[in-house]
Amino acid sequence: MARLPAGVVVVSARVAGEFRGMTASSLVSISVDPPLVLVGLERESTTRAAVVETGAFNVSLLTRAQEFIADRLAGRAPAIDPEWRSLPHRLGNNGLPLVEGCAAWLECRLVQVHAAGDHDICVGQVEAAANGSGEPLILWDRSFWTLR
Ligand SMILES: Cc1cc2nc3c(=O)[nH]c(=O)nc-3n(C[C@H](O)[C@H](O)[C@H](O)COP(=O)(O)O)c2cc1C
Repeated sequence: MARLPAGVVVVSARVAGEFRGMTASSLVSISVDPPLVLVGLERESTTRAAVVETGAFNVSLLTRAQEFIADRLAGRAPAIDPEWRSLPHRLGNNGLPLVEGCAAWLECRLVQVHAAGDHDICVGQVEAAANGSGEPLILWDRSFWTLR
């Protein structure tokens, strides 16, 4: 799978007043009407637990300049505090955090969860979406790239 290029996103949630967020490369667009996306979240992830508990998640599509955020939210660099004080963000209409300056974002309501091995396939109905700007961050061959 390392040879399959994939966009890199942050899946975020909010539970008991705290933010959760994780880097993910498994986001897929599934349906136009209704607008549905899916993301595979590992069973042990604290973000997955918050998404399933609260029934909502946001997606921030990262830019090439946000590689460090991808590392931090994958546990590969200093962790981010539960209020994301050290991570530029804003709240979506649903009150869940979005990464500031991302290439595009989605606000989703969780509509289905399918167990799949050590991950859950979480299907979200997109309730709001918009474009930002910047070159997308792409994962390929275990490294980060962009389109040019
Ligand atoms: C580029 C990249 C892509 C990743 N994609 C996924 C993914 O699609 N699903 C997943 O469950 N974990 C993925 N991970 C691993 C999670 O980001 C990592 O386990 C994270 O620490 C989980 O955080 P949490 O327990 O705070 O939710 C990815 C990691 C990296 C670096």
